[in-house]
Amino acid sequence: MAEAAIGGNPEHALKAGGSDVSTISAAAPAEVGLRFEVDGEIATVTLDRPDKRNAQTFATWSALARIGETLPEQVRVVVVKGEGPSFSAGIDLRMFTPEGVPGQGSFASAAALGDAEFEQLIAEAQKGFLWLRRPEIVSIAAVQGHAIGAGFQLALACDLRVVADDVKFCMKEPALGLVPDLTGTKPLADIVGVPRAIEICLTARTVGAAEAVRLGLAEIAVPASELSQAVQDLAAALLATDRAAAAATKRLLQAAPGRTLEEQAAAERAEQIQRVRALFGQR
Ligand code: CAA
Repeated sequence: MAEAAIGGNPEHALKAGGSDVSTISAAAPAEVGLRFEVDGEIATVTLDRPDKRNAQTFATWSALARIGETLPEQVRVVVVKGEGPSFSAGIDLRMFTPEGVPGQGSFASAAALGDAEFEQLIAEAQKGFLWLRRPEIVSIAAVQGHAIGAGFQLALACDLRVVADDVKFCMKEPALGLVPDLTGTKPLADIVGVPRAIEICLTARTVGAAEAVRLGLAEIAVPASELSQAVQDLAAALLATDRAAAAATKRLLQAAPGRTLEEQAAAERAEQIQRVRALFGQR
């Protein structure tokens, strides 16, 4: 297994899975708080600031985006997990202080940006989340303890969620005067429906394991001691299917909610023609 602690000296080129993951961020490693490992077809991204409950910063999100941009081609499953008792306590609360996070500013400094610059800042942060939906991979969030705000949204950015029985999802942003803007509102509304999403976000209440499974926010809940094995088992089952068929099927399923039945039937035909030709056609 190749491993890279991410962040630190901007001169560092990080190696993972034999490929150059290159410089992730100029921020101090503690502010990035990520580890990245590749083991064959499985990549693991670990939020690694357990002493701060894996609080996330802009440096975390640009590091995540960089991992997405440079993901080795052989990777088919990406596991996102958190070190310690909590998956992630969300954005680093220092962002709310006048001093902010060293080298990364604060909400006060962001508020002074022009519209275009501010929008760009958020778009850059969102890039860290969006790649986890790519059809070529299946992303699995392994979630224990608190998944608050940006933590909940990171779990929602993944295709699948396996949770420990102590999981506590909470969309805290509205309670803090903000909106969830790290791409979490769409998957949340798609999964639980708009009324339940409104109720969960606008009360900022906690959703536990049993309810998460019932609402479809988690595929399975297991005792905390079994979380890692449950994720490994799921990854192994996903890897047992044909790679190209898996990507094509994911493309179909992702597009299905936005299409009519006729459009989806046409998309199935187009994908299947390619599959059958790839499997049985003349090469
Ligand atoms: N940012 C920075 N530090 C954090 C943090 C955060 N979000 N969450 C926890 N920490 C730090 C604590 O300050 C503490 O540090 P020290 O040991 O140096 O004092 C350490 O992590 C451990 O925290 P607790 O002692 O509080 O641990 P706990 O297990 O008792 O409680 C918790 C865990 C319930 C998650 C609690 O820490 C908490 O409520 N944290 C804040 C959660 C929050 O409001 N996050 C913002 C969500 S909104 C968001 O994410 C916005 C967005 O996307 C735009």
